[in-house]
Amino acid sequence: FYLGIDVGTSGTKTLLVDEAGNVVAESDASYPMEQPRPGWTQQDPDDWWKATVKTVRAVIKKSKVAASDVKAIGLSGQMHGSVFLDKDDNVIRPALLWNDQRTAAECDEITENAGGRSALIKMVANPALTGFQAPKILWMRNNEKRNFAKLAKVLLPKDEIRRRLIGDYVTEVSDASGTLLLDVVRRNWSKKLLGKLDLDPDLLPRVVESEEVTGQLTSEAAKALGLTTDCKVVGGAGDCAAGAVGNGVVKKGVLSTSIGTSGVMFVHSDEPQYDAAGRLHTFCHAVRGKWHMMGVNLTSGGSLQWWVENVIQGLAGVSGKDVYKAVTEEAKKIDAGSEGLVFLPYLNGERTPHADPDVRGSFVGLGMNHNRGAMTRAVMEGITFALRDSLEIIESLDVPVRQIRVSGGGSKNPFWRQMQADVFGRKVTTLKVEQGPAYGVALLAMVGDGLHRNIESACKANILVAEETKADRAAAKRYNALFPVYRDLYGQLKESTQ
Ligand code: XUL
Repeated sequence: FYLGIDVGTSGTKTLLVDEAGNVVAESDASYPMEQPRPGWTQQDPDDWWKATVKTVRAVIKKSKVAASDVKAIGLSGQMHGSVFLDKDDNVIRPALLWNDQRTAAECDEITENAGGRSALIKMVANPALTGFQAPKILWMRNNEKRNFAKLAKVLLPKDEIRRRLIGDYVTEVSDASGTLLLDVVRRNWSKKLLGKLDLDPDLLPRVVESEEVTGQLTSEAAKALGLTTDCKVVGGAGDCAAGAVGNGVVKKGVLSTSIGTSGVMFVHSDEPQYDAAGRLHTFCHAVRGKWHMMGVNLTSGGSLQWWVENVIQGLAGVSGKDVYKAVTEEAKKIDAGSEGLVFLPYLNGERTPHADPDVRGSFVGLGMNHNRGAMTRAVMEGITFALRDSLEIIESLDVPVRQIRVSGGGSKNPFWRQMQADVFGRKVTTLKVEQGPAYGVALLAMVGDGLHRNIESACKANILVAEETKADRAAAKRYNALFPVYRDLYGQLKESTQ
C-alpha cells in the first residue's frame, strides 16, 4: 500500500492506495488561513502536521491495513510557501503562502540585482512574481531583521512535513522550480542567482527528482502516524505537477485544467519552453528529465467560494455542499453569457496573464434583469475565461493541444465541465478516478518503491479516461464573442480597481 498526502491551502487530503491503484481509503482535515492584512496570507505549519497525523491515522483505521504494509509515502502540497526555521528547527513566524502579495518591492529588487528581467529568466526560467519563495525570503530580510538573523533553513510546505517525517531537509525539482532559485534547465539550485541576491545556499534543502526516495520515517514520526520506520518517503511534487501526474499529463499534447482555490492550466513539455513575456511559468515536471508550463489564476474556485460564503449563504437557506448544488441549479437557468454580465475573478490580484498583485475583481454590466443565478453564472464564466487566457498563450507558443483533461471542482460539476468545453471551444475529458495531487504522489511513491519502472508506466497502468464532453456550438460561439470583452476589461478597469 502507498500513501499520497496533499498539504493544500484549505486542508490536507490523504489517500491510501493499493498496488493496483485503487483508492482504499481517504481522509481530509481542514485548517484556517490567516489574512492579517488585505493581500497577506499565512498559515501555521503545525496545523499541516496535525492534519497529516490525523488523516494518516484515519485512513489506516478505516482500511484496517497493517502498518507494516504501507511501503512508501508521496508528498504533495501548495507550492511557493515559505516555512522559516531557526537552527533548532523551530518555526520562526507563520508561513507565507503562494497567494500572499506583500512582496512587490522584493520582486523589483530581485529583477534589478539579477541584471534585468531577461538575465533573470536565463538563470531561473521565470520572472519574479509576488507569490514565489525568493521574494518572501527577501521580504523577511528587509522587514523582519530580527527574524532573519535567526533564519537557518527555508522549506516549502510539503518539505516541512517531510522534515517532520524523515528528519532531513529535502525538496524535489517540481516544487523547487517555484522558489525562483532553481536553475530549471539544469534541475539544481542556481548558485549564480543566490550569489547575486546575497543568499546563503545553506538556507535551502537538497534537491532530488520527484520519484527518488528521500529517506525513511524516523521512529518518532512512525509512532505519531502509526506506521513503521521501514516506510519510505519519496520526493513527491508541488500540487500542480502532482495533480497533472494524477491526471496522466505526462506526455506531449496533453493538458489539464484544475479548479481548486487557484486555477491551473498545465501542459507537459519534453523541452523547457518559454513564453517570452513570462506570463506562463516554466517549471520542472515531476517526470524525470521533463518540464511543464502552466498558467495560474490566484482566485479561481476561490472566487466561487467567496461568492457563496459572503453573499449567497444564509440568503438561500442552505448550507455546506448543498449550497454549491443549489447555486449551480440557479445558474443553469441562465443562458451562456450571463445576459451580458461579466465577472473579473481578480479578488486577490492575479498572476496569469497580468502578474498584478494590486488589481481587484469586479462585476461589469449589472442590470435590473440580473438575478442571483445570472451573477453566479457570471462568476463561473469569469473563472473559466481566466483559464482560457492561459490556454491562448499556450496555443500561441505552438505547443500541441490534443487533449484537455479537466479536474478539481470544475470537473465534478457537469455544468462547469460543459462550460469549460464551451469556453475553450474544444472537447474536454474526465478521468475514471480523479483524486488530484494526492493520487499523483501515491503513484510517484509506487515508482520510488520499484513497483513501476517510471511515472509514465505508472500512469499508463492506473489512469483511464472516462468521458468526453463536447463543446456546444452555439454556446462556444457566444463565448468566443464575449472573451475579447472579458480580456479588454482588465486594462480598462486596472486603475479604478487598485
Ligand atoms: C501554483 C500555485 C498554486 C498553489 C495552490 O503556482 O501557486 O496553484 O500551488 O496550492
